[in-house]
Amino acid sequence: MIRLLEKEKPIPYDLLLLADETIEAINKYIHQSDIYVLERDNRIIAVFALQTISNDTVEIKNIAVDTALQGQGIGQRLLKDAINLAKEKGFKEIIIGTGDAGIQQLYLYQKVGFEIYDIKHRFFLDNYPEPIFENGIQLKHMVMLRKELK
Ligand code: ACO
Repeated sequence: MIRLLEKEKPIPYDLLLLADETIEAINKYIHQSDIYVLERDNRIIAVFALQTISNDTVEIKNIAVDTALQGQGIGQRLLKDAINLAKEKGFKEIIIGTGDAGIQQLYLYQKVGFEIYDIKHRFFLDNYPEPIFENGIQLKHMVMLRKELK
């Protein structure tokens, strides 16, 4: 079961840093986000952060699973939990962005029903001090995906 992390609790940066390059980048959204965690044996093993964008729209700003536990279906479970939470809270859509070379992420997000609707051109070139590589390809653009909530 996921649960909302209390505001006074330490932010699980170790996990968040799997999904985002720097603490500075994470700090741009994490203090305005609700952080949901999944625990096993009193240890946080996965996380996602939801930020309200407008009355209608909420964004998954970060989603990460402990490296040793990836590929076991936890990420997919978390995405479905995030979608259900967004529905319960009355949002009309949920959005998520990922790097253009993030093949696994693009696959996974579309598998749970997200569709590509926009590209933020040069996002990773303009917002990060160092080049970022994924699957041997330099990240340049942010691919935005959306799922309508009915
Ligand atoms: N290429 C294509 N598909 C792959 C690959 C790959 N290299 N590796 C795994 N997959 C597939 C799996 O087969 C599975 O699909 P299936 O159910 O059809 O078999 C799916 O991708 C993975 O599903 P899960 O096991 O549910 O995913 P996981 O628990 O590993 O969580 C996550 C996915 C969150 C992306 C995790 O791998 C992770 O933490 N990665 C590092 C951080 C990250 O990149 N986060 C997302 C950044 S974008 C953002 O945060 C908004």
